[in-house]
Amino acid sequence: MSEEAPPSAGGVSRRAAIAGLGAAAALAAGRTLVPAPLLASTPAWRADLVPPAATPPSASAQSRMLGVPFEKHERVRLAVIGTGLRGRSVLREFLAVEGVQVTALADIVPDKAARAAKLVTDAGQAAPALYTNGERDFERLVARDDIDFVYVATPWEWHVPMAVAAMRAGKHVGVEVPVATTLEECWQIVDVSEQTRRHCLIMENCCYGYNELLVLNMVRAGAFGQLKHGEAAYIHDLRRLLFEDKDEGLWRRTPHLSRDGNLYPTHGLGPVAQYFGIHRGDRFDYLVSMSTPEFGLTEYRREHVPAGSPKHAEQYRCGDLNTSLIKTVQGRTILLQHDVVSPRPYDRLNMISGTKGAFRDYPARLYLEGMAGGERWNPIDSVKAQYEHPLWTNVGELARKLGGHGGMDFIMCYRTIQCLREGLPPDFDVYDAAAWSAPAPLSEASVANGSAPARFPDFTRGAWAGTSSTG
Ligand SMILES: NC(=O)c1ccc[n+]([C@@H]2O[C@H](COP(=O)([O-])OP(=O)(O)OC[C@H]3O[C@@H](n4cnc5c(N)ncnc54)[C@H](O)[C@@H]3O)[C@@H](O)[C@H]2O)c1
Repeated sequence: MSEEAPPSAGGVSRRAAIAGLGAAAALAAGRTLVPAPLLASTPAWRADLVPPAATPPSASAQSRMLGVPFEKHERVRLAVIGTGLRGRSVLREFLAVEGVQVTALADIVPDKAARAAKLVTDAGQAAPALYTNGERDFERLVARDDIDFVYVATPWEWHVPMAVAAMRAGKHVGVEVPVATTLEECWQIVDVSEQTRRHCLIMENCCYGYNELLVLNMVRAGAFGQLKHGEAAYIHDLRRLLFEDKDEGLWRRTPHLSRDGNLYPTHGLGPVAQYFGIHRGDRFDYLVSMSTPEFGLTEYRREHVPAGSPKHAEQYRCGDLNTSLIKTVQGRTILLQHDVVSPRPYDRLNMISGTKGAFRDYPARLYLEGMAGGERWNPIDSVKAQYEHPLWTNVGELARKLGGHGGMDFIMCYRTIQCLREGLPPDFDVYDAAAWSAPAPLSEASVANGSAPARFPDFTRGAWAGTSSTG
C-alpha cells in the first residue's frame, strides 16, 4: 500500500544488528499492572445493546496463551506467505536481523515470489523454496519441517485460513493487519492458538513507533497518572491506490462495496490498547459507532477513472469517516476513527489523557501538570532522555537506516526475532489479535443498528484481569 517504505538506502551489517540484541534483552521487564479499577462494575447488559456473539466454551484441553513464552530458537527459520508490497518490505527488515534464515516463500504470482527470493539470495542466504502453484499452495509450505515462524502478508480474506493452517502444522504465525474481519474468525484464531499451543501474533508495526514506545514507557512510569481517555485513528488518503489495477487496488476496494464501519482499526488502536493495559487488567467492553455518508470514492472515480471502466458500475457502501467510541470494563473511553478516502493529512491521533497529563501526536506534543507556560502543548524533546524506549536507544539508528515506516518495521521484526530466540513471551498474543481486529465487525453491527452499542466478546474467557510478562 502507499505506506510502503522505499527499500533500504544503506546496507546494515549483521554484527551491528546483533549488537543491540543482547542489550535489548533487558527490555523484557515485567509489565506494570493497571491500577485499581476506575469503575466499580461493568454496566449490566441492556435490552437495547447489540447482543454479543456467544462465547464459545473452552474445551477442557485448552488453556490460555497469555504470557506463554516461545521455546528458544538459536536461529529462526522464517517463511513468508504473500510477497507483494508489504511482504517484500517486511522481508527486507527480517533479513537485516541476525539469526533469521528464510526457508520458503509463497505467492500466487510467481514473479512476486521470485522478486522476494532475490532479496533472500542478495542477503547471502540459500535460495528459499517457492510455492506459487495457486491460492492453496501455502498449505504445502506450512507442512515443511524447516519453518519456525510464518509471516502472512496477503489480502485480508486469507489471513485467518493461513494463520490456522500454519498453527495446525505446528508453526508460530505473525499476521498482517487486521488479522480477522469477523467475530467468528476472531474466535477461530483464539481456539486454534489455544489448542495447538502456537502463537498467533498481530504484526502491528505502529506499536513499535518511536513516539508510541516513548509514551508507553511514560505510561508505565506513571507520568500521565491514571489514564482515562485515548484517541486512535487510521486517517490516510488511499484513493489513488484503491483504484489502481495492481497491488492493493486489486482487492482493497472490495470491502468498501459491502461493508460500512471501521475497516482498518488496529494501527491506531494497538498502541492505545498497550497504554491501557488491555488484557493486562482492562478489556474492551462495548462500542458505539456511526459513519458519514459515502462521497469520497464515488467523487474520486468520477474525476479520475476513465469512462468505460467496469469500476463505474460499483456502488460503495462504506461511509467515508467512521467514528466509534469504545468503553472499557474499567470505565475508560477510546475514540476510534477510520477514513481512507478524504484529502486529509495522515493521522493516527495517538492521544491519551490521564490525571497528570496528556499526549497527542501528529505532531507529537505533551502537557504534564506543572509544566512551565501553563496549559499549552510542549515539544517532547524534554522527556526523550528520560523515557526513550531501550529498543530505540539500542537499535534505533539501524531501524532508521532501513527506513520501513520511519524505522518501526525493523523494530517490530527485531523484537519478534528477539522473543523467538531468547524464549520470551511475544509482546502481543492471539487475544490482542482478536480484540484489536474486532472493532471492524462490531462497528459494522453498530452502524447497521442505529449506533446501538455492540459488545466485545471476552476473548480471554476471563483471564484479562491477570498479569502478563509482555515487554
Ligand atoms: N502494517 C502495515 O503498515 C501495512 C502496510 C501495508 C499493508 N499491510 C497489510 O499487509 C497485507 C498485504 O498488503 P500488501 O500491501 O502487501 O498487498 P499486495 O496486494 O501488494 O500483496 C498481497 C500479496 O498476496 C498475494 N496473494 C493473494 N492471495 C494469495 C494466496 N492465496 N496465496 C499466496 N499469496 C497470495 C498477492 O499475489 C500479493 O502478492 C494486508 O493485510 C495489508 O492490510 C500492512
